[in-house]
Amino acid sequence: MSSLEKLVDLHCHLMPYVDDGAYDEDECLELLKREAAQGVRTICLTPHLRADMFETTDEEVQEHFAQVQRLAREAELPLTLYHSREYHYDRILRSRLQTRDLRPLGAGNTLLVEFSGREDEAEMLEAVDRVRRSGYTPLVAHVERCFAIHEDWAFAHELRSAGALLQVNAGSILGREGLRQKLLTRKLLQKDLVTVIASDAHDTSVRVPELGLCAEHLENKFGRGLARRLLWENPTAILNGQTIRGE
Ligand SMILES: [Fe+2]
Repeated sequence: MSSLEKLVDLHCHLMPYVDDGAYDEDECLELLKREAAQGVRTICLTPHLRADMFETTDEEVQEHFAQVQRLAREAELPLTLYHSREYHYDRILRSRLQTRDLRPLGAGNTLLVEFSGREDEAEMLEAVDRVRRSGYTPLVAHVERCFAIHEDWAFAHELRSAGALLQVNAGSILGREGLRQKLLTRKLLQKDLVTVIASDAHDTSVRVPELGLCAEHLENKFGRGLARRLLWENPTAILNGQTIRGE
């Protein structure tokens, strides 16, 4: 276990029956237990909202959130839970940006925004600009999967300059997604371009919660300061609607 004992997970699919995450209540409970065992104390559940794929309504998410809270309470897990969405950048998000019918991460104005990965640099910058002009700050989900970043990691600088925050998956850092992703995330970490690391956990077998393991890895490779900032300070600031240090 890492010496960091109060990690925050801002991006995960632990809520059952709403997307391709937890299959049922049993798997949800097991995932909550694993998060707690990894040293996580605060979780924001982020079910997908994606046109033609995951269109679960906010009301359904609200109902299932109550169910997850009950599971955590009955198991006496030391977890504080929030819920938001992982918004795919598509027609639903673009329309909701106009009506501001969106649920940010915690008390601030940060939205977890997922790209298909195939967008080019201009399309990504246009999207960031559109989200920002609507009054929100985009936190780009698993930015290491985006083709534009694979082509040129330095494009991450431009995204940051345009006002985007960048999230990387713990699994990519730990090499679960292959060597290419691992090397890319290492570069982004070395260049201090990452804002938040999250689990993006979906299940108990393949895409599992392992933020504690990732914290240990980061402490060894980059020092405790970086681990603390990306796994605790920055996600906490986002949830509280506070400015992130250095932004
Ligand atoms: Fe996700």
